[in-house]
Amino acid sequence: MMRFLTERLLLSLLLLFPLINTHANGGINIIPKPQKVEIKEGQFELNRKTQIVKKGITYDVSTEVFKKDINKSYGLSLIESGINDARKSKQSIKNSILLQHDADLGFEAYRIDVKENEILCSASSSEGFFYALQSLIQMISTDAKNRLTIPCVEIDDKPLLSWRGYMLDDSRHFFGKEAVKQYLDIMARLKLNRFHWHLTDEPAWRIEIKRYPLLTSIGAIGSWDDKDAPHAFYSQQDVKEIVAYAAERHIMVIPEIDMPGHATAAARSYPEISGGGEGRWKDFTFHPAKEETYEFIDNIMTEIADLFPAPYIHIGADEVHYGNQSWFTDKTMQDFIKANNLKNEVGLEHYFVRRACDIVNSKGKKMIGWDEITSVGLDPSKAVVMWWRHDKPEALTRSLNDGFDVILTPRIPCYFDFVQDQSHEIGRRWGNKFNELTTVYDFPESISSLIANNKSQILGLQANLWTERVAGKERLDFMTFPRLLAIAEDGWTDAEKKDYEDFEKRVAVFLIYLKSEGINYFDIFDKSTTPEPWGPSKADVISEG
Ligand code: ACM
Repeated sequence: MMRFLTERLLLSLLLLFPLINTHANGGINIIPKPQKVEIKEGQFELNRKTQIVKKGITYDVSTEVFKKDINKSYGLSLIESGINDARKSKQSIKNSILLQHDADLGFEAYRIDVKENEILCSASSSEGFFYALQSLIQMISTDAKNRLTIPCVEIDDKPLLSWRGYMLDDSRHFFGKEAVKQYLDIMARLKLNRFHWHLTDEPAWRIEIKRYPLLTSIGAIGSWDDKDAPHAFYSQQDVKEIVAYAAERHIMVIPEIDMPGHATAAARSYPEISGGGEGRWKDFTFHPAKEETYEFIDNIMTEIADLFPAPYIHIGADEVHYGNQSWFTDKTMQDFIKANNLKNEVGLEHYFVRRACDIVNSKGKKMIGWDEITSVGLDPSKAVVMWWRHDKPEALTRSLNDGFDVILTPRIPCYFDFVQDQSHEIGRRWGNKFNELTTVYDFPESISSLIANNKSQILGLQANLWTERVAGKERLDFMTFPRLLAIAEDGWTDAEKKDYEDFEKRVAVFLIYLKSEGINYFDIFDKSTTPEPWGPSKADVISEG
């Protein structure tokens, strides 16, 4: 009985909580901020009689995620009436959410017109309707009589950039299917549409490759701080499930298989394709001068290309110099350099990246690589550059001048393994710089002079969460949120519409949702309530730059 009463009390508090907060900004607390909002008088009531009706739509538009989320948050089951139903009578449209095709709207764009007895959502793509519904969810609040209401409003919205991403390093530490799905849910709510999955690196290889079982039976053992951590990886079935789950939320999943460096887990599983290395960097690279290596990679890419429908595969290509010591002494490699007129070991690295690009292209995919690929002599129509070295703006300008499309992920402010508050001890800093919410929010405006002349080549931007110092889900949440909210607005909302103070108010409302998801966000409003969860060790306080 006591337990029952406690549960009832908790439930009532939860229902009251939105009442206190969600009415700020006239109830329009959408993140990312829509381009145009006009608040009207009155409100729409969402209840058991509300029907979803589709009109004039000839393509697949699913409302399943919307219905599931409404049910999960409010225990309300919405009904969907006849597909492509024309309006039969005035009566039939009362209290409906009408989805109507509008050819004038661009890809991912949508309009919402909330009236007291009808909500009209217009779009020209499944994505546009999905985002209209995501905006609706963010406008629901519970009134004093426990009714679910949405304020009358007109919204006209479209994204600034087409690539709005989040990268998770699942190699250094493994987070698993449920964590990934939860993050995909939150990404969808934030209209983020690219999940970059860093699946292989030094500590572990995290994806099943049927042709090379040792990649997981050996390569999936260990983590950054424990080389004997029980082996953990995603089976191909898991990957299919996650890719499908993401697709339902209009999120593309882009796998990263890092090479020729950061290949330690693969090289220790199959020593015959190891490129050597020394000490801490033993087996860091693939062997770049053996045909066998390229066959190995080709076979892996065949399976990867089949598993991921995305038109891109990321091959890393970063930081090869960390562990290429053997390349200077290995006779096969030195002979190969001479035989192929490659100048030196850097020429050999570039040769490898060109071969990797050919392999990826042969699977019908475009290659993505970190900004080291900009100088290797690739055809810019075959590869996309991810700019990460914020201290090397020339890598960005060169990529743009050479004609590459670019995704912006500079360490400052897009790396979420950097600390987010002066008081935080675990994580990276660059000199005295780190990535607090305001710095993340001031992007890409903070680098606008670097991209002003090549805007059409900027596909978008992305937050990257490397997990050397992120040993568990609590800390993953803490480093990701609320900074991911700022990245979402950076990628979606035009610069002149952004306003940090207004954003903060909306963050406060979004935190209620994150709390209901059990997310351990860093509370920017009451820092003392979220002590910094540990990384693997207190020794992991680092400063670079
Ligand atoms: C990177 O941070 N090494 C891309």
